[in-house]
Amino acid sequence: MAGKVSTIGVLTSGGDAPGMNAAIRAVVRSAIVHGKKVKGIKKGYSGLMAGEIVDMNAKSVSDIIQRGGTILQTARCEEMYTAEGVEQAAKSCKENDIDALVVIGGDGSFRGMKEISSYGINTVGIPGTIDLDISCTEYTIGFDTAVNTAMEAIDKVRDTSTSHERCSIIEVMGRHAGYIALWCGLANGAEDILLPEKYDYDEQKLVDHIIENRKRGKKHHIIINAEGIGRSIGMAQRIEAATGLETRATILGHMQRGGNPTCKDRVYATTMGCYAVDIICQGKTNRVVAYKDGDFTDFDIEEALGQKKEISEYQYRISKELSI
Ligand code: F6P
Repeated sequence: MAGKVSTIGVLTSGGDAPGMNAAIRAVVRSAIVHGKKVKGIKKGYSGLMAGEIVDMNAKSVSDIIQRGGTILQTARCEEMYTAEGVEQAAKSCKENDIDALVVIGGDGSFRGMKEISSYGINTVGIPGTIDLDISCTEYTIGFDTAVNTAMEAIDKVRDTSTSHERCSIIEVMGRHAGYIALWCGLANGAEDILLPEKYDYDEQKLVDHIIENRKRGKKHHIIINAEGIGRSIGMAQRIEAATGLETRATILGHMQRGGNPTCKDRVYATTMGCYAVDIICQGKTNRVVAYKDGDFTDFDIEEALGQKKEISEYQYRISKELSI
């Protein structure tokens, strides 16, 4: 059973994601409504260790629901993979009277959170990553904005690709996960989608597919390549040499992580922020907030981290079927 929580700390960790600000706002204001104090921790676990912690009130989160990035800033903190780092983070929570910690971030951030909880600090995770690669949830903060940003950019590339009758390789984010690539591939009607989970590195197949499509009269050939496969520029050069068709590579990069969050990201991030505070106030400990089977829910941290998530075979198959 958890001890009484007086002060809730909140941090964002790992890559930023549009909608994180909406979640911060919800955590801060919901905590205030529940009569709790709230502390904002700057720059993720690095800031926690360094004591970069500020008191927050309702006003601190004014005018942020619509903004991309995270007002608390974020970091990838290698020290959290060491026992000393975790101990320092837990010590900082205690010194700053933080008895419950809300972590908005991805799987790696949740692992750090689990370690901190072994020092008796209540922790709750909110899934925040544009990659959608957190197993226990069908929604992560930022994915919707990121895929919409990428989709619009790909539409633009497609216009010029068609005008010039070119082949275009567009690289989207996702080092280990192909969800952004798969969704963009489906949304943009791409001819080929290369996912880290699926790609067999057989470029001859791509070349054959491009030539076949050209014979069918297609004026462009869009290949969505996930960052985890990468090397889009070299791939474009090789494809141009093999097909004789002008081929260009466009790497969308970090533009996918910025921008104003979509309505879905604002609403879901807000709901998850409030949900996190609600379960802390109910006395639940060490949970991860999730969206599953059409509703918001929460999982024990161990269970959340133990689950496995696969790319939808069905969506992958139809993306291929439709690219005729
Ligand atoms: O946060 C997720 C993500 O954007 C991945 O898609 C990408 O592989 C990675 O972060 C890039 O990280 P960084 O901004 O540290 O280069």
